[in-house]
Amino acid sequence: MNLCTPSAATFEHAADLLKRGCLVAFPTETVYGLGADARNPEALARVFHAKGRPADHPLIVHLGNVDEVEHWARDIPDQAWKLAERLWPGPLTLILRRAPNVPDLVTGGQNTVGLRIPAHPVALELLKTFGSGIAAPSANRFGRVSPTTAAHVVADLGDAVDCIIDGGACPVGLESTILDLSGSSARLLRPGAVTSDALAKILGKAPNVGATADAPRVSGSLPSHYAPDTPLRLVEAAEIEAAVRTLLAEGGSVVLLSMRQPPAAEPHACRWLPMPLDAAAYAQILYARLREADALGCDRILVERPPAAAGWAAVLNRLGCAAAQPHQTRYP
Ligand code: TXA
Ligand code: MG
Repeated sequence: MNLCTPSAATFEHAADLLKRGCLVAFPTETVYGLGADARNPEALARVFHAKGRPADHPLIVHLGNVDEVEHWARDIPDQAWKLAERLWPGPLTLILRRAPNVPDLVTGGQNTVGLRIPAHPVALELLKTFGSGIAAPSANRFGRVSPTTAAHVVADLGDAVDCIIDGGACPVGLESTILDLSGSSARLLRPGAVTSDALAKILGKAPNVGATADAPRVSGSLPSHYAPDTPLRLVEAAEIEAAVRTLLAEGGSVVLLSMRQPPAAEPHACRWLPMPLDAAAYAQILYARLREADALGCDRILVERPPAAAGWAAVLNRLGCAAAQPHQTRYP
């Protein structure tokens, strides 16, 4: 296992591995990424193989500097420069028209490319040392919950990665906001820590939401994408007790993610995992909690539905995805 702590020597080593076509997992402010040289088709193929991800799903190219954007994209609208200036480095991915030299494995064969400058000192130092774009999907097996600690990466990908840089727990905890600027109007393809309101302030109006038939594909937007192995159900706060009672009466065991205090006497077959009341704090630990819940091996995960209030869009989106059963949705 090549688990490394961040240091000058680690960054040199990791950049050297990337130059040789190897894979390096690294922390970003959102989730851990599985990085490869975005110009090297063989290295990119290894990413798809390690993740078990279909080859037509595009990868985000991570950049260390806004000057590099023009190497990867063309016909860049003013809106993109404005957003980049205000929100990069940060948890925002921009979908732009691709430059001709971008490998097909990065774009999934589409005429667009996803770019972002991550706001994590380890990611930025790695990018600076490497000196070019790093293509990096989340460092999980395809279809699983994204990793927010180095231990999650080890658990999912282990020896398939040549080096894992341990930067601790990711501060945001959910994947970046994805905004498509390749068409005639801005479209929010995946909600994240950069909210629609924050984008609206800079764009002058709120982006449209969701993909159109001819919009770029976003695998993360498919309902079953962020699912734990244990069946998960979202439950209204007022219905939790009844839902738990029913499951226990059927002889099942249940783990509950709730924002309320646990009852004084917790039934033996019901494990209670507390969740924060604050949206950002909730987002930060959600994936770790889902992995923890899975590991308990209960029959069912129940999640108290968080409020449909400002700041909760990304959390509600991922919980909705986690609640969709994988067998109900298949990639075309
Ligand atoms: O926060 C994040 O975005 C993390 C960190 C590592 O940066 N990355 C991440 O990558 O979540 P991934 O591959 O797990 O999800 C990226 C999403 C995918 O759903 C992919 O389909 C979409 O971005 N994407 C990438 N390039 C695209 C493009 N050209 N057009 C449309 N969607 C694109
Ligand atoms: Mg992913």
